[in-house]
Amino acid sequence: MGSSRCHTICRGRGKLALVALLQGDREARLLSEVVLSVSCRFGILLPVNDRLSVAHPAPHRSIVPSFRANLDRPRVRLRSVVVSLTLLLLVAPAALGQEVPELLDSMSRLARRVERDEVRLVPDEKTGYLRSLLRALDVPISSQTLVFSKTSLQHQVIGPRNPRALYFNDDVYVGWVPGGRLLEIGSVDPNQGAIFFALSQQHTDQPRLERPAECLSCHESSRTENVPGFLLRSVFPAPDGQPILSGGTYTIDQNSPFEHRWGGWYVSGTHGAARHLGNVVARDEDKPRELDVDAGANVTDLSRYFDTDRYLSPHSDLVALLVLEHQVRIHNLIARATRETHSALSYQAELNAIFEEPPEHRSESTIRRLDSAARKLVEDLLLLREALLPQPVRGTSAFAEEFQARGRRDSKGRSLRDLDLERRLFRYPCSFLVHSAAFDAMPPEMKDRVWSRLWLILTSRADDVPVERLSKEDRAAIREILTETRRDLPSYWSD
Ligand code: HEC
Repeated sequence: MGSSRCHTICRGRGKLALVALLQGDREARLLSEVVLSVSCRFGILLPVNDRLSVAHPAPHRSIVPSFRANLDRPRVRLRSVVVSLTLLLLVAPAALGQEVPELLDSMSRLARRVERDEVRLVPDEKTGYLRSLLRALDVPISSQTLVFSKTSLQHQVIGPRNPRALYFNDDVYVGWVPGGRLLEIGSVDPNQGAIFFALSQQHTDQPRLERPAECLSCHESSRTENVPGFLLRSVFPAPDGQPILSGGTYTIDQNSPFEHRWGGWYVSGTHGAARHLGNVVARDEDKPRELDVDAGANVTDLSRYFDTDRYLSPHSDLVALLVLEHQVRIHNLIARATRETHSALSYQAELNAIFEEPPEHRSESTIRRLDSAARKLVEDLLLLREALLPQPVRGTSAFAEEFQARGRRDSKGRSLRDLDLERRLFRYPCSFLVHSAAFDAMPPEMKDRVWSRLWLILTSRADDVPVERLSKEDRAAIREILTETRRDLPSYWSD
């Protein structure tokens, strides 16, 4: 993100004094970097060298050592303490009490419209604000999936007879549980990645939307690529929905074997002779892994487990689950690649300043870091490690149909949202999220690498991707679809 926009934001929030300080003496700047890096956790400003950027605080590691080195000098220490206290006074109220301006994710945009009275969220008896919120966010009810393990925030009310429902579209996720006091929302900001909100279910004229810090206690960890992100777990659940941790747990995504998926979830759909861990609980808590997977297989009606009438839909659609698992992974990897780029480039800028290299200089290690994040993202964008389906699958809701209908199509009618469901998830294995705002907003040095790596693989120039993983026909089809549905591809794509 460019510095001019950040300065505008600072001025907009009355932090001009801070900017002046940042541009002042070096020790003050170093300290303010640390203070601001901390407050950035709350979604405030991240200073990178002489610039400010509204990103998450990736370069901690590179800033802190230089800060410490300065503190070894006593005179600097005294001055620095005074400066840091002043800064804390200036920054703390903003850090603790305010939203980051100009968040562009769907939920923030909707919140602004609600504030301006352009949209009203209207509660109903059955689901509180849920139905109205889904409609306002354009999230289809057919995307409903149901999880009954007590693995998330409102675990007291979640259980096999009262599962939690999740809904999603390409850039927002909504969680609701009957009797829960909050709607939980995870919304993808193109620049900052996942942003978490809680909407109180208390009926008022002005529904209250908050950004609780506690969400990140689960939503930022190694399970989410160490960025604020999304996660899905498969557990061995006790009859009350409590995960039996002695049985182990899996973090699940598109690469998880079918037989590891959906412990603690309801699954409506068919899958032949394949087996998953959904729809059942452990009868013997001493042997949590001995689930009766046959009893949970090929279930198309969930009303035998709980009162489905209390939900917006009676389904926990198998295909919706598969797409959700793909999407969560890609959102996290895009956010990871973005953060890695900010971090590597700010470290590089520090080194360039110290060694008096030109600003565009990139060391081998910076190049390696960027390349490796890009390769990791592309690997999963092209589903190169996808766990293939052991049997053809079908869902029970209108999800598959509605999901495919949202696709951008090429002149032959093909779309990256076309589903296969016989052997794998997608007909053309390349994530539809290459059309998302989060993908588009990746820093240019990352996006260029991703397009270049995609092109190398899709034109069979990369010799480390075997054709068994991605056939020549698939590569050609994906290349053609991308060329027709994206106007902004690098010029070498059309050669
Ligand atoms: C105790 C850990 C925990 C906390 C705290 C937590 N979550 Fe989650 N959240 C989970 C888990 C685990 C899942 C995966 C589904 C499940 O197991 O219920 C999840 C799923 C979600 C999803 C669906 C997308 C995804 O990541 O799978 C949303 C949206 C969500 N949480 C929002 C929130 C919000 C908003 C907060 C804070 C108000 C929050 N969560 C706090 C554990 C947590």
